Amino acid sequence: MSGELLYLNGTYMPLADGRVPIEDRGFQLGDGVYEVVKVENGRALWLDEHLRRLERSLAAIKLAGASIGHRLGEVIPELVLRSGVQQGAVYVQVTRGVCPREFELPADPVPTVLAYTRNVSGPSAEAIQAGEALHPVADPRWAHCDIKAIDLLAAVLAKEEARAAGAQEVAFVGPDGMVREGGSSNVFSVIDGVLRTHPANERILDGITRGQVLLLAREAGCQVEERAFTLAEITSAGDSKCEVFIASTLKGIMPVVRVGTHVVGDGHPGPVTLALLDLFRRKVALLGGLEMPPASS
Ligand code: PDD
Repeated sequence: MSGELLYLNGTYMPLADGRVPIEDRGFQLGDGVYEVVKVENGRALWLDEHLRRLERSLAAIKLAGASIGHRLGEVIPELVLRSGVQQGAVYVQVTRGVCPREFELPADPVPTVLAYTRNVSGPSAEAIQAGEALHPVADPRWAHCDIKAIDLLAAVLAKEEARAAGAQEVAFVGPDGMVREGGSSNVFSVIDGVLRTHPANERILDGITRGQVLLLAREAGCQVEERAFTLAEITSAGDSKCEVFIASTLKGIMPVVRVGTHVVGDGHPGPVTLALLDLFRRKVALLGGLEMPPASS
């Protein structure tokens, strides 16, 4: 299928032809890490940032340098070019490779390194206008959420709980009541004009989109604090004074109009969210080499 191409351990092939042995430690133990890179107009965006984070994740699981021989900085643009994908994503995964199932680390692992492209379009204008609902869930995950590990069972189950509750995303909340992040996104609030998000520590993934949002907000002169906020701060803020949004590679910036049963603000995307979304879209278009109309004054 056009747009779907796989790089697996040095070989390019159709995605459907990819095979990984049963005793790959990623398959059996969740022993691996991953990245998702956005493709805009045939270009992989923020690739250096993603590859730096991949290296950090690999180092954290004692697999530092596992992808070096694969030169992903060249493979990924080549994969995007060969696949013909214009609007989509590259999924990148590195596992500790194949060996008889044991918990202890193999002495000389041969990592499984793969990347593949997919056609994916971002959220529609209607979806953004409608916004999303967040379903709060007590965070059951481990204390290394800064590692982009392939074991996503906690997020899978929490997202299923969210779906059953009529929400599109989870808000993982710590025992201290602090909103940490989404199931696959970072969560931001704007309360009394101050943009806030959880600090980048071991409780959250330091999202590439999160970093861009903070950069754009600071450049725009917005007051920014990397300081966690509670659900109560959202629910007790005056209607016109609170906005919430999530940010991720696949959704970009997505307004949040409901958290649990609480309607955020007036139930529509807020002005700061929409202004940041406009700046973010312009940045994506610029990096993708696309023309954008000048910002409205
Ligand atoms: N998820 N937090 C978590 C737990 C995530 O899984 C993600 C991304 C983010 C946002 O990170 P970024 O802006 O770098 O995409 C935050 C990816 C997209 C996924 O698993 O599909």
